[in-house]
Amino acid sequence: VALRIDPSILASDFANLESELGRIANADLAHVDVMDNHFVPNLTLGLPVVERLQRISPIPLDLHLMIEAPERWAPVYAETGAYSVTFHAEAVGRDSDPVSVARSIRERGARAGIALKPGTDAEPFLELLPEFDMVLVMTVEPGFGGQSFMPETMPKLRTLSEAVRASGLDVWLQVDGGINDDTIGIAAEAGATVFVAGSSVFGAEDASAQVDHLRDLAARHVH
Ligand code: DX5
Ligand code: ZN
Repeated sequence: VALRIDPSILASDFANLESELGRIANADLAHVDVMDNHFVPNLTLGLPVVERLQRISPIPLDLHLMIEAPERWAPVYAETGAYSVTFHAEAVGRDSDPVSVARSIRERGARAGIALKPGTDAEPFLELLPEFDMVLVMTVEPGFGGQSFMPETMPKLRTLSEAVRASGLDVWLQVDGGINDDTIGIAAEAGATVFVAGSSVFGAEDASAQVDHLRDLAARHVH
């Protein structure tokens, strides 16, 4: 299995995003947390900033939309040329559904990801796996960087990992929140293949060395 390290720029210096992206040019993807202060109690950045990052990033952008009404906004973010767009299952409006949102992302040429908060069960999504390119198992409550990894989310990751394996599909399993030297092995062992890390990468003196270090640690726990 290919393992991917995906540093979250939420932990970077927002006044110097271009040079911060340069610090992680050896990573596989750059994770961009879009928050609207409604779906989560925090506000980060939106379309104009994503459009600019898309033009200057040395590596593909992985957008994590923590916003209401993804049925309206996910296709607009996909049109920026982002490599991957992930929306929250819990945020989809009554007049829409996760499969429609995912299709609207794929139609615009981006990979479609669905994110599950720690309290959201994976079961309803297992039969929908062909509709998604990635499932994000949140390992903290979404909204803020620097929180502690929640090991109680690992059984859900295992369930998804087994379902992906049984399906033969190439669905990536992403973890996000509290991923660091101590926790990345736990997530890798449970089946994660894409590792978002904010504070552990951007808080390091040498961010690119930390990216390589995390990749090595993850690889040791894959079986
Ligand atoms: C939290 C965000 C994460 C966050 C992770 O809602 O989705 O991407 O930046 O930060 P760390 O790695 O510091 O927990
Ligand atoms: Zn995120």
